[in-house]
This record gives sequence, structure tokens and C-alpha cells, in this order.
Amino acid sequence: MRIELSEEQHLLQDSVRQFADDVVRPRAKEIDETGEFPRQFFAQAGELGLAGVTIPEQYGGAGMDPLSYSLVIEEISRVCASSGVILSVNNSLVCDPIFKFGTEAQKDEYLKPLARGRMLGCFALTEPEAGSDPAAIRTTAVRDGEEYVLNGNKVFITSGTDADLAIVFATVDRDLRHRGITAFIVPAMTPGYSHGSHEYKLGVNASGTTELAFADMRIPASQRLGGEGEGFKVAMSALDGGRLGIASQAVGIAQGAFEEALDYSTQREQFGRPIADFQAIQFYLADMSTEIDAARLLTWKAAWAKGSGRRFSLEAAQAKLFASEMAQRVTSKALQIHGGYGYIREYNVERYFRDARIAEIYEGTSEIQKMVISNWLVQNT
Ligand code: CAA
Repeated sequence: MRIELSEEQHLLQDSVRQFADDVVRPRAKEIDETGEFPRQFFAQAGELGLAGVTIPEQYGGAGMDPLSYSLVIEEISRVCASSGVILSVNNSLVCDPIFKFGTEAQKDEYLKPLARGRMLGCFALTEPEAGSDPAAIRTTAVRDGEEYVLNGNKVFITSGTDADLAIVFATVDRDLRHRGITAFIVPAMTPGYSHGSHEYKLGVNASGTTELAFADMRIPASQRLGGEGEGFKVAMSALDGGRLGIASQAVGIAQGAFEEALDYSTQREQFGRPIADFQAIQFYLADMSTEIDAARLLTWKAAWAKGSGRRFSLEAAQAKLFASEMAQRVTSKALQIHGGYGYIREYNVERYFRDARIAEIYEGTSEIQKMVISNWLVQNT
């Protein structure tokens, strides 16, 4: 078994790292503080082919494999977790389902600009009363001739403040639970569509998280994504890819924090020598790098499983579960190595610590990942 990147993947990793260090890093601290949505970053990422990494070139994407996608999200998140999740959502939760379930007309009209980064997408599933249990959503879609009329509210929508388009999930019949859910491609300029202001959060503060409201929003039936009642499958299969993205984000956050801690430990002197000379710090660094590599390998395995074309819910859930909890432990140790300096805003490490926390929550909490993993194990024995 060979576990190494191809020459193209190495080249991609180097060029994205350069872009992240030169363009994304200088603004990361500022946008975390102000909450400004990094729209220009998204457009620049699109120019580089990073908005639709795995989408074939004929539909505006870069035509690369899922491991390349994981490398992209890791490198961007290594310097800015907000930018990482914005890119991850556009790639996995918006471009991927349109590619997989969309009609040629939908791909032509929406996928091409999304994959080129000329349009930004968001994924509107979660509602105030339906987070871990999306089969319970209350947004309704009522058929009226060649249109559907949508009414309802969504919460915690990443990129919602700035998105040009949303994949909206609504139910045609609540009694059917998941079998009533239907997906729609909804441009943000549709009459009846509105969004709230950006939520100030513990971390990933520049990711444009907000509420969406739909009031008598009329959507042509031609903008339904997949069949009526197929929306739950659209959402779940998109979330498999999304979880690969969040695992990659968590690895990137941990890697960024680790590099800060390693650097600091060689500069900072106490008791007359760099703190990296002390075994306590050396053991921290050894544990951190080992955990990051373990999470990265699980994440690469999930990427490989996605590339094989079969369902990869198990691998994606395992990678997200482990990588997000690993990021929590690693960023906490990175902060500890910084001592009091780690706790003040002047240093980046407190941002990494705050950013890591959400990876255990969005795109399915750790508890939901454990349900996915155990259901899979029980059903496949
Ligand atoms: N791919 C395809 N089909 C799938 C699937 C998948 N990964 N997972 C489930 N399905 C299908 C099942 O086969 C089943 O099909 P049938 O009707 O043919 O039998 C159907 O979907 C229902 O499956 P379950 O009975 O397993 O569904 P459930 O209601 O018990 O829910 C769950 C399972 C895993 C808990 C799911 O509800 C879940 O993932 N919850 C978490 C939701 C979540 O992750 N939300 C994140 C919001 S988006 C976000 O955070 C983005 C952001 O902004 C960053």
C-alpha cells in the first residue's frame, strides 16, 4: 500500500500553501475580529480552481480527485478556518450535489459559476427545531402548477450573509418524515428570500453564519434538485462529502496551531533555555504531531473511499469524529505551550483554539458521527 501524494498533488499543495500564506493569512486575524466575510478571498480561490475542486472542467471545476480537495481545505484552514469552511461548503455541500443530482440545464446555469467562484453557495438544511434530526424540518414546499411555494426559516447557515444561491430543503408532507423532503436550487435574489445579520460566534467568526427566511417564495419546478421526496438522500450524500471537508479543516486548524507552538517553543526562554529543551514540552509536541498525522491519514482514507465511487459514510464520519476531537486537544496543548501569551488576542493560538470547537458540532455533532458509524457497523455485519 502506497501512502504518498502524486506529483500533481504535491504541486497543488505547494501552490495552495503559498496562496494561503500570501493572501489569506495576512487578513485572518482581522476578519476574525470584525466578522467581515472574505468575499474577495472566495473570488481569488475560484480563479485558482479551488471553488469546485472535484467538479469536471466541462462544468467549470478543476477536475481533481477528493484527496486534492482535502489538501486544499487543510491548507486554507491552516491559516484561516473561516475561509476553510466557506470553501468546503461551496465545494461539498453545493457544487457536489448539483453535479450528482442536477439536470444538465441546472449544471449549465448554476454549477459552472459556482465551481468557478463567480457565485457563492450555501446549504440551507438546519432549522430552529431541526438540527441533528433534519427529517423533522418544517419549511414547506407546496406544488402550484409548474412552481413550488416555499415558506419557512433556516438557522446557522454558513455563508448565508453573502451567498448568491442556496440549496434549500423543504418538506412536501411532514407526515412522510425524511421521504417528504425535497431539495431546491434557490437564487438569493428570488422574491421572498431574505437573510439575517451575521451571528457573532466563539470561532470561525468570518463565515457569514446567519438565518434565512422564505416567505411565499415561488420556485419553478425546474429548480428542484432531484426528485420530489429525494431531498434527504441529496442532503445526506452531500454531508458525507461535507464531513470529509470538515475533517480536513480540523487537520488544518491543528497543523496551524502546532506550527505556532513549535516555533514559540524554540524562541521562548525560561530557566535560561528555550522551553523546547524541556521534556514536558517535547512530549506535548510529539503527541500533537502524532495525533495530527493519525487524523490526516483517516481523512485521506475517507478521500480515497470517496474517490472509489462507493458510499463512504463510515470513513467520512470516522475521519470527522477523530479529526475534530483531535483538533480540540492539539489546539489546547498549543495554547498551553504559549502559557499566558496563548490566552491573549495578540497571538494567533487562541483563535485556533476557538475555531477548532465548531468542527465537533457542524455537519453533524460527534454524537451524530458515532450514530452513523455504529449504524453502519450493525447493518453491515
Ligand atoms: N447517503 C445516501 N442515503 C442516505 C445516507 C447517505 N449518507 N444516509 C442515510 N441515507 C438514507 C437511508 O438509506 C434511508 O433511506 P430509505 O428511506 O431508502 O430507507 C434514509 O436516508 C433515512 O436514513 P436514516 O433512517 O438513517 O435517517 P435518520 O432520520 O435516522 O437520520 C442521521 C440519520 C445520520 C442522524 C441524520 O439525520 C444526520 O446526519 N443528522 C445530522 C444532520 C447534520 O449533519 N446537519 C448538518 C447541517 S449542515 C451544516 O452544518 C453545514 C454548515 O453550515 C457548515
